[in-house]
Amino acid sequence: MTGFTSGSAIPCSILHRRTGPESRDTVCMATTTYQGLEVLYSRQQIAERVAEMGAQITRDLNGERLVMIGVLKGAAPFLADLSRSIQADATFDFVAVSSYGKGSRSSGAVKLIKDLDEPIEGKNVLIVEDILDTGLTLAYLRKIFLQHHPKTLRIATLLDKPSRRIEKIDADYVGFSIPNLFVIGYGMDYAERYRNLPDICIMAPGQAE
Ligand code: IMP
Ligand code: MG
Repeated sequence: MTGFTSGSAIPCSILHRRTGPESRDTVCMATTTYQGLEVLYSRQQIAERVAEMGAQITRDLNGERLVMIGVLKGAAPFLADLSRSIQADATFDFVAVSSYGKGSRSSGAVKLIKDLDEPIEGKNVLIVEDILDTGLTLAYLRKIFLQHHPKTLRIATLLDKPSRRIEKIDADYVGFSIPNLFVIGYGMDYAERYRNLPDICIMAPGQAE
């Protein structure tokens, strides 16, 4: 994956022990601790990667307009930063989905609890998501958005956990591919908490209060 320029590595063996050998080709650097949590990606690493993603999206747009659709609530900080790295005439919309059951993992059935405000027919649409995990959420959103006949439909996700996939779906733009870890911060929550942490941190099993 991407190169990092700062921070000391925590031993990769720590993450491999937690996640299994399938994670071996993924990034396994954490830098420090933040409020007692291991930082997987610091705010600086996030900012650098988001800027790269924005530049790529700008190139791919080729001067055309864009509708960015954020998936509430987790994608809000990512959308805010990514949008400012994209040089294009862009508008925002937001959807919210619920995946039955609270807690740390999505559980299966997905339903839309807040729909789009504006039509997307004939437009270049970018779904902006915090994390692509089982793929159930994005597969569902892709299906219903395609029914509106956008000109293009692409997906940007800050994090991707390919080892957890149930639905066959890939993002067009991926910030970081990670092993099967539960992460919080930069929009991502555990039971609605920790979204405002500026870094992406690892929540170890048994760590939640
Ligand atoms: P999916 O439908 O399983 O792909 O799950 C997508 C959603 O599950 C994400 O948008 C998050 O809201 C949540 N999720 C999955 N993994 C994590 C995680 O490690 N931390 C926080 N939320 C997660
Ligand atoms: Mg989400």
